[in-house]
Amino acid sequence: MSLYAIGDLHLHFQSELKARNQLYDRVWKKHEIRFKRNCEKLIRSEDTLVLVGDHSWGRDLDECGKDLLYISDLPGRKILIRGNHDMFWDVKKTVALNEQFRPALTFLQDSFESYRDYAIVGTKGFTFEGPFYLDHFGRIVGWDEAKESHAKKLVEREAVRLKKSFDSAIEAGYKKFIMFLHYPPTNILEEKSVFTDIAEEYGAKAVVYAHCHGESRFHDSIEGERNGIEYHLVSGDYLNWKPLKIMD
Ligand SMILES: [Fe+2]
Ligand SMILES: [Fe+2]
Repeated sequence: MSLYAIGDLHLHFQSELKARNQLYDRVWKKHEIRFKRNCEKLIRSEDTLVLVGDHSWGRDLDECGKDLLYISDLPGRKILIRGNHDMFWDVKKTVALNEQFRPALTFLQDSFESYRDYAIVGTKGFTFEGPFYLDHFGRIVGWDEAKESHAKKLVEREAVRLKKSFDSAIEAGYKKFIMFLHYPPTNILEEKSVFTDIAEEYGAKAVVYAHCHGESRFHDSIEGERNGIEYHLVSGDYLNWKPLKIMD
C-alpha cells in the first residue's frame, strides 16, 4: 500500500482551455495520456492518490463531467484537494459533491481521510503572488500593497480551514498527519508562514503542495527537509506527470 500525490492536471475535455501552452509545450502536450499511462504502471488498487488541486478548466460541474470521469477511472483511491482554478467546487457544497461522486472520488475540505495510522489533512491554502516590482538586477524592490492586504484575508480564511481539517483528525484520535495544500506554503518573500507554523504546531510529517508551473516558478517555496518536516512540490509538469510516492 502506497500514498502518491500529484497536482495541476488542468484537464479540459469539455471546457475552454485557458492556458494555450498546454497544446504545444513539450511537458503539457497530450499530458492526460502520459499521466494515465504512468498511473496505470505505478498505482495499484490498494494505493491512494491525492490530487492536489487545479483538476479542471471547467467553469462549473457541467463542464467538468468528463474530467472527473477521467480521474475516477484512474487506479487506486482518489482524494481531491481544491485548487484556485476549480470553479466547479464551492466549499459550501462539498458535502453534496461527495454524495454525488462517492465512492469514486473523495473531495477533502474541513475534514480528513485516513491512510494507515496517518490522517490526510489539507485545504487550498493561499499566498501573495505579487505583482512584485524588480530593479535592474532582478531584485524585488516593491509589491502591490492592495493585493497583499487582500491576500492576507484569504490566507487567514484558509488557515482556519486547515486547522479545522487537523482538528477533525485529532478528534478522531489521529496523532500523525500528512498535510496537503494547493498553493505553496510560502511565497518568494517568506521563509515561514501561517501554514508552515500550523504544520509545525500539529507535527505534520510532510507538507505536499502544487500550483507552481514552469522552471521559473518551481523553486518559489520550500523543498526538502525544514524543521523536521519534508516539503514536496508535486505540480504535474514538475513531476513530468509521474505521481510522487509520499510514503509506503
Ligand atoms: Fe495550476
Ligand atoms: Fe493553481
